[in-house]
Amino acid sequence: MSRVSNVVATAVACAALTTLMLATAHAIGRSAQTESKGNPEARTLKNPVPANAESAAAGQQVFRKYCRFCHGDEAKGDGPQAPKGSHPANLTDDTWDHGSSDGEIYTVIRDGPDQKSVMKPYKSKLTDKELWSLVNYLRSLVSTTKKD
Ligand code: HEC
Repeated sequence: MSRVSNVVATAVACAALTTLMLATAHAIGRSAQTESKGNPEARTLKNPVPANAESAAAGQQVFRKYCRFCHGDEAKGDGPQAPKGSHPANLTDDTWDHGSSDGEIYTVIRDGPDQKSVMKPYKSKLTDKELWSLVNYLRSLVSTTKKD
């Protein structure tokens, strides 16, 4: 092999290696991101409460009692009594920091968003049916907002 082709071969090998490393870093970054967002286990939970007007209304009752003061009358995250400096999520937009499936929303309400959150777990305060009805209520808000 001539000196020139040797240099070219090395350069090509280097470029290939760099591409590979970048691709790997990218893939790792992406999977870490998917893991921190959402909860794959919770995603498989099936909502046992039919999503109809009745369960959405039941969910609304619960919401008014337990959630409104932080998340706001229309669940837009603007509750007047939310603790200072906390930012209750807007529950009517497309952004679900903890996953958007019924099972993930249910789990966030049941167990709380995380340890540090001002939002505490509701598993000891609400029945399973009430928790799923809340999910149905929140879902009904999103579809109403979208139609408008
Ligand atoms: C003390 C205030 C407070 C109360 C009460 C509260 N939340 Fe929250 N909630 C928050 C805050 C703040 C967040 C944003 C996550 C975080 O940083 O803690 C949040 C996040 C959420 C999320 C996750 C949204 C997402 O983007 O993934 C859901 C769902 C939710 N709340 C539903 C409810 C429901 C339903 C109730 C009533 C049973 C409720 N919350 C009661 C403060 C509250």
